[in-house]
Amino acid sequence: MKLAIIGTGYVGLVTGTCFAEVGHDVICVDNDAAKVKMLQAGGIPIYEPKLQELVQKNVAEGRLSFTSSTAEGVEKSDVIFIAVPTPPQPDGSVDLSFIERVARDIAGAMTGYKIVVDKSTVPVKTGERVSETIKRYCKAKVEFDVVSNPEFLREGFAVDDLMKPDRVVIGVRSQRPVAAMKEIYSPFKAPIIITDIASAELIKHAANSFLALKISYINAISIVCEASGANVEQVAEGIGLDERIGRRFLNAGIGFGGSCFPKDLSAFIKISEQIGYDFRLLQEVQRINAQQMDRFVKKITDTLWVLRDKTIGVLGLAFKQNTDDVRMSPAIDLCQRLQKEGAALRVHDPKAMDKAKPLLKGATYVDDMNAVAEGCDAIVIATEWEEFKSLDLDRAQKSLSHPIMFDGRNLFDPAEMEKRGWVYKSVGR
Ligand code: UDX
Repeated sequence: MKLAIIGTGYVGLVTGTCFAEVGHDVICVDNDAAKVKMLQAGGIPIYEPKLQELVQKNVAEGRLSFTSSTAEGVEKSDVIFIAVPTPPQPDGSVDLSFIERVARDIAGAMTGYKIVVDKSTVPVKTGERVSETIKRYCKAKVEFDVVSNPEFLREGFAVDDLMKPDRVVIGVRSQRPVAAMKEIYSPFKAPIIITDIASAELIKHAANSFLALKISYINAISIVCEASGANVEQVAEGIGLDERIGRRFLNAGIGFGGSCFPKDLSAFIKISEQIGYDFRLLQEVQRINAQQMDRFVKKITDTLWVLRDKTIGVLGLAFKQNTDDVRMSPAIDLCQRLQKEGAALRVHDPKAMDKAKPLLKGATYVDDMNAVAEGCDAIVIATEWEEFKSLDLDRAQKSLSHPIMFDGRNLFDPAEMEKRGWVYKSVGR
């Protein structure tokens, strides 16, 4: 099928590339001309495993192209996906101005029937607004359908999540766009759920809030574990083997971050408030998440006492493993708090150092993770990168003034660390 994707951020670029990979003709549109140029030259603006190879392959095979003209995208396609950012506003609600702008641009360029699909995460009822906007600004007065098709990809695993989705949600107002939407997704061989538009929009917010709730739940359990001498990993294992609960997203740590969970939670609380429901359960999820970081910082200051004139080595800056994304990263938040307490920092991240530099000034950026501990008073694990598990502990032990590790992601085994002579503090164990 002929598809256009408006917006080449995480969702747009990965979605467009994976659609091309399964054989569709895809044109990706972005109003950032420099970004379009970079993509046309085979570069990609983000680090995401497998993405660059797929972009280059599909461009070479003629199924994927890039343009900065929305009109060109609309003209050449039957189905147009909107995948532009919906950034948070200071009051927690979502800024929908990019969506509105794109809806107007699409409307202005339409000369025949089109299916306009919203992929961006939006408040319930946005589909209706998009539909009204297109109707108002479409001079050609052609027919169209608006569809809600939320995306569930995780950064760092985006290509896999897209190629092998757990489910595809398609929200429609009439049956007319259903066959085309099913055709687009049939190569992915996933269960397809057809709903009304409002339900599809809600599914996205409800899913992300539930996952955030799961993380806050295990983080709350970690507090009880610490107070009672239990081990949160064993508790997570024990409850996670119950199929009704599941082990995933039960990793205790310094809390969730990133561009989705914090924003989507605030937005969902705000939307609920606007339609008359005080969603206190989700407010508590936010509170536990913030408290988890406070508790971790206290663990560090309780052990090291005064941080002024101390040097701390920090492993991890990205908001989670396998990405260079530092937006709303708990690791950056932690570093800034340690700096505020007067600590000097030596930091390392396998992929996120360049993106961290503008946010985290005054730290020493170290290319080799095994050199981070040099001259430090303690080391901190702030992101769950797999490679941190192979840190040269003997070298770190020799480099530190005293072997102290604060593991905010529970990557090491407490008994093993103690045996090696470390003062080792993790979360809920
Ligand atoms: C999330 C959703 O998973 C995805 O379906 C949605 O489309 C977008 O939002 P993402 O933000 O990429 O994806 O990351 P995710 O893997 O969900 O992790 C979010 C945060 O939670 C990270 O900071 C991570 O470190 C933290 N986390 C995750 C935990 O603290 N514990 C866990 O068990 C899992």
